[in-house]
Amino acid sequence: MTATLSDCPNWKYLLQEFDTLYRYGSAGGSKAIRSHRKRVRDALSAIIDTNPEIVVVEPTRKPVVEHLPRALDLGARAAVSGVARALGHVAAHLAWDYGYPSVPKSLSKKYAYAEILGPKGPVRAQGLILGFVLFAPGTTYPQHAHQDIEESYVSVAGAWSENDNAVYAPGSLILNRSGVEHRITTGDLDPCLLAYAWAGPRERLAAPGMKFSARRGSARDGT
Ligand SMILES: [Fe+2]
Repeated sequence: MTATLSDCPNWKYLLQEFDTLYRYGSAGGSKAIRSHRKRVRDALSAIIDTNPEIVVVEPTRKPVVEHLPRALDLGARAAVSGVARALGHVAAHLAWDYGYPSVPKSLSKKYAYAEILGPKGPVRAQGLILGFVLFAPGTTYPQHAHQDIEESYVSVAGAWSENDNAVYAPGSLILNRSGVEHRITTGDLDPCLLAYAWAGPRERLAAPGMKFSARRGSARDGT
């Protein structure tokens, strides 16, 4: 028998916490961020209304998952504590991945992400991907961009910067529009946990083609 969202309260509550992230609070006066937040919550509401299938995903770990308990502890006492606590209740079922065909060896110990909702599950849906990305302290996540995909990060725990522009704290939302290059660094003392949403055409979300941007004089693209 196929399980659906109504059979799995912990996944449903986690989606409710995602909805809260994108429904309440300010867009900071940005029309682009306001419309992205609306796009995410409208897509999420429509998906929840269909009572989607829950795919049983084999849990997988990556080395950075050793930092998850600390990230959840920090998140539980920060600005968006609800999502940190709800994530803790499904942590044993998460499939952590790199997303790239190959990653630099140093990064393989310091980064991974887990999808919550999308074409591959665990909550099966089209047109939207929700998940979490976890970084160890002192990580540099190389420059990259996403074609045809609007990406937002909401800080759950830890401090981080994007393109050396600012330091983001729990509760901050950062929008990366399609094709915009970005590079992330994280604070030295604690892990960094971000919730993310990807909105875009369903064909692109099913095959996002993740790769790091080539740098002059470097052969690091996708390696
Ligand atoms: Fe990104």
